[in-house]
Amino acid sequence: MKTALKNAKLATLATDCLVVAVGSNNRTSLEASELDTASSKRLTTLLANGDFEGKLGATLMLQGLEGVKASRVLLVGTGDAKTLDAKATKTLLGGAVKALLASKAKEAHFALASLNLSGSDHYWLAERLTLELEDASYTYTTTKSAKAKSRTLKAVSLAAPKGVSRARIDKAFANGTATGRGINVAKQLGNLPGNFCTPTFLGQQALELAKGKRNLSVKVLSEKQMERLGMGSLLSVSAGSKQEAQLIVMEYKGAKASAKAKKTAPHCLIGKGITFDTGGISLKPGAMMDEMKFDMCGAASVIGTMTAIVEMQLPLDIVAIVAAAENMPSGKATKPGDVVTSMSGQTIEILNTDAEGRLVLCDALTYAERFKPASVIDVATLTGAAVATFGSHVSAMLSNDDKLAAELLDCGIKSLDPIWQLPLHDEYQSLLDSNFADIANIGGPRAGTITAACFLSRFAKKFKWAHLDIAGTAWNGGTAKGATGRPVSLLLEYLRRQAA
Ligand code: BES
Ligand code: MN
Ligand code: ZN
Repeated sequence: MKTALKNAKLATLATDCLVVAVGSNNRTSLEASELDTASSKRLTTLLANGDFEGKLGATLMLQGLEGVKASRVLLVGTGDAKTLDAKATKTLLGGAVKALLASKAKEAHFALASLNLSGSDHYWLAERLTLELEDASYTYTTTKSAKAKSRTLKAVSLAAPKGVSRARIDKAFANGTATGRGINVAKQLGNLPGNFCTPTFLGQQALELAKGKRNLSVKVLSEKQMERLGMGSLLSVSAGSKQEAQLIVMEYKGAKASAKAKKTAPHCLIGKGITFDTGGISLKPGAMMDEMKFDMCGAASVIGTMTAIVEMQLPLDIVAIVAAAENMPSGKATKPGDVVTSMSGQTIEILNTDAEGRLVLCDALTYAERFKPASVIDVATLTGAAVATFGSHVSAMLSNDDKLAAELLDCGIKSLDPIWQLPLHDEYQSLLDSNFADIANIGGPRAGTITAACFLSRFAKKFKWAHLDIAGTAWNGGTAKGATGRPVSLLLEYLRRQAA
């Protein structure tokens, strides 16, 4: 997608589509008024008939507006509010992008310079526009006979208020595009069926990403290598599967030499990569079990984030670790009551083989210690309890560091990829007591998201750590079934702040 900053006289601009804003009660923006005048009040007449009410994000595509050179004019609603916050701006852009992509326009001009933004600015709008364009352009076709047609829309330009820097707008376009691509990588990996997206496949994807990249190196540890490291917990999950578990380690070195002199520690991301979760011997019920192909969405978001980081060339050192395995029942599978030894040396009584996410993550957390990270964030579709608590709008977050938690909460607001914190109080820890090991892998029927995080916290004592439970936010069910690409936006917001 070509992008440009352009301030032009609207009525005489030759373009496939002009996008202008209109508020409720026929309140025309400066740009819409300009077109109204040029078209001898045709817009006024049209709005007077009431077909378009200017609701936030609603659109009306007009063809061949008299007196206006553009072949199409797309009206997009701003609603009642005089100023638009980030959420409203996203809704507006999302609506416009959807209508635009549904048309045959090859290029478009977004004449939105007069929008009154609150809490964000026109750089943010430029970034969000390209993000929405990428995000909305994704369709899943890999395992369908009908292949996707290439996107008709090839170029967009954006008008901005006087005084904005062209260089910064261009940077915003690039960042938005990279974020959108990262989101799409996460969606694509999530959507791939379990017989395509195996642990080995995930490893190959990471290796592929590193190809020809100067400052990204990837290694994939085999089960043999994990055995040597003592990762008895992770390996207990893949024991019942024909698919070999893989530990994928991606090291991105983007920190500037001057920062390196200060010996900056890397920031670490860890993703749960259960490419299919049957529950193991503690077998899940059949209904909707297909959705457990999405149980690697944490890993997908980490790989998607790294894709964007590499594209942005963020000046920061980052280590991403994906713990990939398939959870299957078989004669070789781990059984309830089995005790395994984790890489940390702590023994674990596996009371339920369906609580497998924490079993792969705990060894990945211990592995992360060797990087002496500045912060560690793990991302996992960990508990049904998180879905029960938050539904599909916010991800659960728990942390052993208040400052990190506060920063992540703020990043969630800014990136419109919201999270909410649950307490990691010591009182919950005793629910994991076991008579036969140092710790049990489940904490009983209550407070499931918290006890899962308590389990992980035992392996996160050596660094600042936050856990994101994305079980409710990583994919949609029903007719809109598919991965969402969350929380790539949130992770990128966090990492970009660390680089700033
Ligand atoms: N992958 C699931 C969590 C999950 C369930 C995500 C439903 C999205 C929708 C996880 O591995 C799991 O099975 N968790 C169990 C833990 C329990 C056995 C303590 C759960 O939440 O039921
Ligand atoms: Mn499970
Ligand atoms: Zn799972």
